[in-house]
Amino acid sequence: MPNGIDLILADHQTVRGMFDQFDASHDAGLIRQVIDVLKAHDDVEQAALYPMVWTILGDGNLSQRYEIAHSRMRTQIDLISTVTGPPLIDAFRALRELAIDHMAEEERDVLSVLSERANTQQLEVLGARILRANSRG
Ligand SMILES: [Fe+2]
Ligand SMILES: [Fe+2]
Repeated sequence: MPNGIDLILADHQTVRGMFDQFDASHDAGLIRQVIDVLKAHDDVEQAALYPMVWTILGDGNLSQRYEIAHSRMRTQIDLISTVTGPPLIDAFRALRELAIDHMAEEERDVLSVLSERANTQQLEVLGARILRANSRG
């Protein structure tokens, strides 16, 4: 069974790669692809990652903080679907900033701590839940 943290990190790398590809090509088709990947990633984290994270790490105000970050990205995605031309590029750049910052924070403050505190079995359970959440989407 795959390690759940590796699956989340692989998604993050995919998203970063697509943003870089967009910078190089300005291929508008990539905007839709990035949005699809981010939406699926959002679903997977809400369904599988975060419930386990708040149980193992303790919540504090972290869950609220992460809920706000995800909800800002969803709002930005909704905005993107209402604009075209240069405003679309600006809106997409703003989404990139939100996503890049959030992924860096998540890797630093959540995934690294989870990898220290969770045992192999818990990370495999997380992996299975992520795959199940992915296949529902
Ligand atoms: Fe996240
Ligand atoms: Fe993430």
